Amino acid sequence: MSSDVIALASDHGGVELKSLLKQELLQAGHGVLDLGTEGSASVDYPDFAEAMAEAIRQGAAGRGVLICGTGIGISIAANRYPFIRAALVADVTTARLSRQHNDANVLVLGGRTMGAEVARDCLKAFLETPFEGGRHQRRIDKMGLART
Ligand code: RB5
Repeated sequence: MSSDVIALASDHGGVELKSLLKQELLQAGHGVLDLGTEGSASVDYPDFAEAMAEAIRQGAAGRGVLICGTGIGISIAANRYPFIRAALVADVTTARLSRQHNDANVLVLGGRTMGAEVARDCLKAFLETPFEGGRHQRRIDKMGLART
């Protein structure tokens, strides 16, 4: 399992931010799996949420970043898969807490709603913050969500 690989996927509303974060991750020495989209042609965000779910299900990546225009559609789509805990965040505190309390394995960002600097900081917090377990694991277990 390539648990240290980070998968990235977006629709056309997130393609610019995806490209920026991909460069950031590569420069920091992370393994990256880019699941598309490429370019500005209109595509459907559920297809990219599905690609992310498949990559994580198969072990090609341990964590992921999903981006659409607002992050809303692609987070709804991703959370339909029981082993995905996708957290739509808009600030660094929420990104940190998505790891500490929710053991999020997918960070979701809005490509049209979030500035590049905040997005970089959210990604850093997401990658560097461990899950606290304990009572938070109990709550995750109550939702019937598998830990990957
Ligand atoms: C695509 O135009 C847009 O609807 C999508 O990126 C996303 O914002 C949906 O939630």
